[in-house]
Amino acid sequence: MIKVGLFDSGIGGFSILNELFSVLPAAEYFYYSDEAHAPYGPKSDQEITNRAIIITEELLKKNVELIVVACNTATASSIDELRSKFPHVPFVGVEPYLNAYYKMPDGNKKMMVLTTESTGKSERFKRLKERLDPNSNIDHYPLKNLARLIESYYHHPDDKNLFESEVKDELLFLKSKNYTHAILGCTHYPLITKYLEKILQLKTISPCPYIASRVVALVKNNDTDAHSNTGFYFFSSLINQWELKNRSDLLLPFNQ
Ligand code: DGL
Repeated sequence: MIKVGLFDSGIGGFSILNELFSVLPAAEYFYYSDEAHAPYGPKSDQEITNRAIIITEELLKKNVELIVVACNTATASSIDELRSKFPHVPFVGVEPYLNAYYKMPDGNKKMMVLTTESTGKSERFKRLKERLDPNSNIDHYPLKNLARLIESYYHHPDDKNLFESEVKDELLFLKSKNYTHAILGCTHYPLITKYLEKILQLKTISPCPYIASRVVALVKNNDTDAHSNTGFYFFSSLINQWELKNRSDLLLPFNQ
């Protein structure tokens, strides 16, 4: 049985886990949600790297054969250090899919990339942006609160109206700018694609399907057949223990 580990500051990485359930259903999944230290967005590289190392050690105790750093912020700050500290572990990171601009036909396209503050400030993101978008065709906006709002809605989905109005406030400054596409540079954001597309009147671009394909390409025993595996293991750093959860409940609050 293939065992795959994932982690994020919270439930943002569910956007990747959800793709993995479709393309690699037979694997056993171990998801670490670092809620006790969320959000990562305002934290320093060193703080996030310290957490990423502790989390990796916990996932390795479960004998995972590969770890998805299901968080743009942790990828930007920590993946190099993780790869050098754990050279035997394949790590798959996530970065905003900036290639999208150049893959799309010329014409009426105006794109932006949305990230957390920490990702936006990171050297890794700056290098990626310079390399993939040397003419600065894609505008970049760091969002201070969006990941936190999504995280808190997931845990308290009872007040949908409040959530929608807070998301609208956070995005207000982007509304009149007439973007046609938003590249989502935080794994929390694809969880609310339908809100983002409605509020901003554009199409969103998520890296999650590409990350899932990368995992499929890397796993050794590539058994992609449908399977009766209906659960996944979930660890919250607030509770400090592994729980078995239902796959079908993964995105429940966002599907209502
Ligand atoms: N989901 C994360 C990301 O992809 C982190 C959000 C946060 O904790 O600030 O960047």
